[in-house]
Amino acid sequence: MAMIAAKCPDIDVTVVDPNAARIAAWNSDSLPVYEPGLDEVVRAARGRNLHFHTDVESAVRAGDIVFVCVGTPTKTYGVGAGRAADLRYIESAARMIAELSDGPKIIVEKSTIPVRTAATLLEILRSNSRRGTFEVLSNPEFLAEGTAVADLENPDRILVGGERTPSGENAMATLVDIYARWVPRDRIITTNLWSSELSKLVANAFLAQRISSINSISALCEATGADVDEVANAIGKDSRIGPKFLKASVGFGGSCFQKDILNLVYLCEHFGLPEVAAYWERVVSMNNWQKSRFTQSIVQTLFNTVSGKRVAILGFAFKKDTNDTRESAAIDIARGLLEENATVVVYDPRVSADQIQRDVLGAGRSDPRLLVARSAEEATDGSHGLAVLTEWDEFRTLDYAAIYSRMHKPACVFDGRNILDRRGLEQIGFKYYAIGKPQDE
Ligand code: UDX
Repeated sequence: MAMIAAKCPDIDVTVVDPNAARIAAWNSDSLPVYEPGLDEVVRAARGRNLHFHTDVESAVRAGDIVFVCVGTPTKTYGVGAGRAADLRYIESAARMIAELSDGPKIIVEKSTIPVRTAATLLEILRSNSRRGTFEVLSNPEFLAEGTAVADLENPDRILVGGERTPSGENAMATLVDIYARWVPRDRIITTNLWSSELSKLVANAFLAQRISSINSISALCEATGADVDEVANAIGKDSRIGPKFLKASVGFGGSCFQKDILNLVYLCEHFGLPEVAAYWERVVSMNNWQKSRFTQSIVQTLFNTVSGKRVAILGFAFKKDTNDTRESAAIDIARGLLEENATVVVYDPRVSADQIQRDVLGAGRSDPRLLVARSAEEATDGSHGLAVLTEWDEFRTLDYAAIYSRMHKPACVFDGRNILDRRGLEQIGFKYYAIGKPQDE
C-alpha cells in the first residue's frame, strides 16, 4: 500500500487495523517491519496520501477499492488442522465490508488464500449487503522479504484475477491502471479468479521445491565428497534450470513456503488427488529432514554429546535483511539442541530477545538454557561451537581469530548457509562443517 501511495500521489491510501499499537508504530519513526528502503517509501507518502489509523469502519465505508490483507494462518483445530488455511479473518472482513457498503466497491484479496476463496468472499458480500454491489479481484503478492521494496518497484509480474463478466473486466482494468503507473503493461497479467489464486500457491511450491531438491543433493554430496555449490553452479548453467534459488541451506523458512505447500496438499486431498498431495508434501518433509540433519551434525561433531555444552547460534531471522522469524530454521535447530540438553546462546542483529524466547519456548515461558546475546562475540564467548543460520553480511567479516581464542577447543563452526571462508577458518584452527561440503577437505 505504501508503494501504491508513493507512486500515485493522487490516490488516497488508508491503512487500517484495530490494533492501536501497530498503527502507532506505523505512524512513528521506527516502523514495526524492518525492510531495506521501506522507511523512505513510507516517509515520502505518509501524511500526504498515505494514512494509518484504527477507524476501520469509516475507511471501509469511504473506500472505492478495499484490499483485504488479513492473516490466513494454518488451521490449528478441526478439519484440515495443520494444513488448511484458517479463513475466519477473511470471513469476518467480508461480513463487515458487506454491512458498511452502500454503493459499488472493488474488493481485492491480497492475502494468500486457497483457490475458490474469492467465491466465499463474493457469496458473503452479495448475500449480506443491502445497498452494496461488489466485484472481487485476486491480486496475490510475489514480493520476497528483505528485497520487498525493490520487488515492488520492479516486479517480474503483477497478477490480477477477476470474473470474466463485463463488470469483472472493468474492475480488473481499474486495478491494472493503478499498477500501470509504474509497471510496464506487458508485465501485468490478468486471469480468471481461480488461476490467480492457484498461481500464488504454485509459484511458492515450485520455488520451495528447488531448495528441497538441492538440499536433498547436499546430503548426497556430504556422503560422497562432491561439493554442493559446485554442483549447483554446474547445473545452473543450463538455462532451462538457471542459477537462482539453488543455494543449499539449513532449510527454507518464512511465512509462505511451508504454509502454501500445505495448502496445496490440502486442496489436492480435498479434490481426491492423494498422489499429487503426497508429491508436494515431500517438499516440506525434505525441509524438515534437512533441519534435523543439521542439528544431528552439530551433535555428532561435538563428540556425540552437547549436554551441558554451550552452542552459539548466529542469526535467527529466516533470511537476511528482515526481522521476520516465522518458520525460521533457527527455531527448530535451537529446540533440537535444547532437547539434547545444550545451552543455546542466540544472536541476531534485528530480532528482539523477546521474539527469540517466544519462538523457541512459547509465549510466557523461559528456560535458563536459552540465552540471547547482544553481539556475536558475546554469544560465542565460552562456547564449544557456533552455528551460522542466517546469511547476515556481518557474519562474513567477524574477527574469527578473536572469537576462536575465547571458545572451547576443538572449536567448531557449523555453516548453515555456506557463506564463510572455510580455508581461513581452518587456518585459525576451527573444525568446520557446512551443508553439502566434503567433510575432510
Ligand atoms: C517467498 C517468495 O520468494 C515470494 O515470491 C513470495 O511472495 C513469498 O514467499 P520470502 O519467504 O520472503 O518470499 O523469502 P525467499 O527469499 O523466497 O526465501 C525463503 C526461504 O528459502 C528463506 O529461508 C531462504 O533463506 C531460503 N532459500 C532461498 C534457500 O535456502 N536457498 C535459496 O537458494 C533461496
